[in-house]
Amino acid sequence: MSVHKEVKRITTHTLQEMKNSGEKIAMLTAYDYSMATIVDDAGMDIILVGDSASNVMAGHETTLPITLDQMIYHASSVVRAVKRALVVVDLPFGSYQGNSKEALSSAIRIMKEAGAHAVKIEGGVEIAESVSRILTAGIPVMGHLGLTPQSIYKFGTYTVRAKHEAEAKKLKEDALKLQELGCFGIVLEKIPAKLAHEVSESLSIPTIGIGAGQHCDGQVLVIHDMLGINKGFKPRFLRQYASLYDVMNGAIKNYVSDVKAKEFPNEKEQY
Ligand code: KIV
Repeated sequence: MSVHKEVKRITTHTLQEMKNSGEKIAMLTAYDYSMATIVDDAGMDIILVGDSASNVMAGHETTLPITLDQMIYHASSVVRAVKRALVVVDLPFGSYQGNSKEALSSAIRIMKEAGAHAVKIEGGVEIAESVSRILTAGIPVMGHLGLTPQSIYKFGTYTVRAKHEAEAKKLKEDALKLQELGCFGIVLEKIPAKLAHEVSESLSIPTIGIGAGQHCDGQVLVIHDMLGINKGFKPRFLRQYASLYDVMNGAIKNYVSDVKAKEFPNEKEQY
């Protein structure tokens, strides 16, 4: 008998059971091995290797520049760390919009080269063919509606989406379509809480909100935002659980001053 305790992995079925039983789903981003270890050990249900890596890891203004190769690099580092959570990886801008064949081959690369468990893709009915082709290959797909950052140049701003009837109606139709195609869940980003509530109640699959209120079946945040590593980013929907910028900056300043003052290393810290 093995002395190692078996860890029960989260699957898309577990998430469905959580929705059915009313247990909320916790999801957070991670982009590297060390962070993913901490996040997984904390009991996260879903770890998202988001294309927000383009912003928080690479310093780009938008999510558009990150490449499929770079997403695979981040995802494979995360997968090596994770023992329990479901690892979902974003299909980056330009890796699926061309046609469904390209979308499938990008999704296959993510699954095969990174060892991911599922992919996430932005958009509704307009990407239905791609979603369906990826699903046909046995790859679980998570949808993403509302504020879809890869379309930021079409929207023009990062403000709340679907405030008006026509856009809200389209979002509801998109959500139903994604469910009908076989997506296992949908991220709803920055839409009115009332709309997110209606969508969450109308769907049988889980919704995961970010800036979409308390009635979604789960919540997702970008780890750098909730840990306060991004000092200046404080949108209304964000709850900051730590101020790591200050903690890390303070520690690093102490190190600099110890080195300058010849106080590090001391006699015990050498061979
Ligand atoms: O890339 C990302 O981090 C995301 C979340 C904001 C949902 O898509």
